[in-house]
Amino acid sequence: MQLNIKNIIAVGSGKGGVGKSTAATNLALALHQQGQKVGLLDADIYGPSIPIMLGLRGQKPASNEEGIIEPLEAHGLKAMSIGFITEEDQAVIWRGPMIHKMLHEFLSRVNWGELDTLIVDLPPGTGDAQLSLSQLIPLTGAVVVTTPQEVAIADVRRAVQMFKKVNVPLLGVIENMNGDTFGMGGGEKAAGEWQMPFLGAVPLDGVVCKQGDCGVPILISHPKSPVSLAFLKISQNLQSVLQSKTDAQISIQKS
Ligand SMILES: Nc1ncnc2c1ncn2[C@@H]1O[C@H](COP(=O)(O)OP(=O)(O)OP(=O)(O)O)[C@@H](O)[C@H]1O
Ligand SMILES: [Mg+2]
Repeated sequence: MQLNIKNIIAVGSGKGGVGKSTAATNLALALHQQGQKVGLLDADIYGPSIPIMLGLRGQKPASNEEGIIEPLEAHGLKAMSIGFITEEDQAVIWRGPMIHKMLHEFLSRVNWGELDTLIVDLPPGTGDAQLSLSQLIPLTGAVVVTTPQEVAIADVRRAVQMFKKVNVPLLGVIENMNGDTFGMGGGEKAAGEWQMPFLGAVPLDGVVCKQGDCGVPILISHPKSPVSLAFLKISQNLQSVLQSKTDAQISIQKS
């Protein structure tokens, strides 16, 4: 099956729990609200959270005789996750080749149809899984998520280096959980240091957590909240970054 997807964008971070899945989901929704056809691929084989965040827990995708899988749909997004295939309490212990096979199937056997953007939610860390993921999927680029603290930023630096090593273009940094508790501005400073665009800061807000667990992401439940407005702005900034990359390519081709 031929992929008909304009941009495939990974959302990653060296560190766990910084809000990758939250950012991936709300960014996908923001792009959709801004008129794009969007898919969300949960590549976190160890702890898939997209089924819960999209309220698709317990649902199973259908497949036809040829083994083509129909992605599930929620809030206008097409979604696929290992969590749709395995039982929730089943410990998933994957070896490298199995991760490869699974991701290959997610791209080659899922009927994504025509998409403007496929957002890929990566697992935490900078180990083999992330490396092989970024090599296996034909990525347009990666967005990295960090919290404002120094330690998170050091972990993210490792992720940035990993993406650079495997030649995945870095599209920008999102600072999540910005506010009085964790501080602010660290993400922007780091983006400058890593020579990456800064896409925006998302405030720390308890509603994010509650809504994520209920399966209605904040962009849907509280569309005018500061967090939702931040994701809409980040989505616009990301589209500008992608557009300027395309423009640069065209001018290189012309010259
Ligand atoms: N801006 C925010 N304000 C408040 N809570 C948030 C915010 N962003 C994320 N959270 C909460 O923090 C927790 C971790 O977020 P999330 O699952 O998105 O992180 P992750 O980086 O994908 O984690 P993992 O590394 O386990 O995949 C979740 O409970 C989520 O609801
Ligand atoms: Mg996650």
